[in-house]
Amino acid sequence: MGDQDLHRDTQALKRHSQRSIRSRRPHIRCPLFFTPLVHHPVFFAMSKLIRRSNIRQLQASVALALVSSLFVAAAHAHGDVAPQPVDTKDLPKLKGEQAVNPYRGTPNAKKAAEIGSSAFNQNCARCHGLGAVSGGIAPDLRYLPEGKEGDEFFAMRIRNGSARNGVTYMPPFGNLFSEEAIWAIRSYLDSVQVAE
Ligand code: HEC
Repeated sequence: MGDQDLHRDTQALKRHSQRSIRSRRPHIRCPLFFTPLVHHPVFFAMSKLIRRSNIRQLQASVALALVSSLFVAAAHAHGDVAPQPVDTKDLPKLKGEQAVNPYRGTPNAKKAAEIGSSAFNQNCARCHGLGAVSGGIAPDLRYLPEGKEGDEFFAMRIRNGSARNGVTYMPPFGNLFSEEAIWAIRSYLDSVQVAE
């Protein structure tokens, strides 16, 4: 077989395989024009555009879109970053700063824990974990000490946050939350408490 023949055969083979690939494409019909989608003008325009545009650029923008959607998903998974208001109108009003959870052991404990649960998941879970099950970024608050001892430590932290050497480990919530909201969150933590 001469070079010429080989060339011709290869070309024929190429044409054949291209034709069979094309014929294997699904001919989905566009409901607008009742033309097979692959013959649709919009489809042609799109594929021309894609062919013309810089592939690297295309890859970069696809990668960017993927990464940013991941970030958005992560942010959603850990709750919103901006402090979320806590609706405590269904709880008895408290007078002044409390040292011990005033809802504990009262008929309002369950209601307080319910309100606290949503407040916690919206404001604290991004660091302390959904359901107070820590993912390792911040302490697991299910292990806070019970009763008065835990209350004092809890109240100090939630009001003042935590900072050392100019580094903020936890922001203060004292100016953002009402006294009722603070003890609603403590009531929620009471309800998921695990003895050490
Ligand atoms: C930006 C992340 C972040 C957010 C949001 C956050 N915390 Fe913290 N929290 C921390 C870190 C980090 C520590 C550990 C501080 C330290 O080591 O000084 C901590 C410590 C605590 C402690 C002391 C626990 C212990 O065992 O030392 C309590 C209580 C607490 N947080 C409650 C809350 C509550 C309630 C909220 C929501 C209103 C909240 N935190 C929101 C990061 C956060």
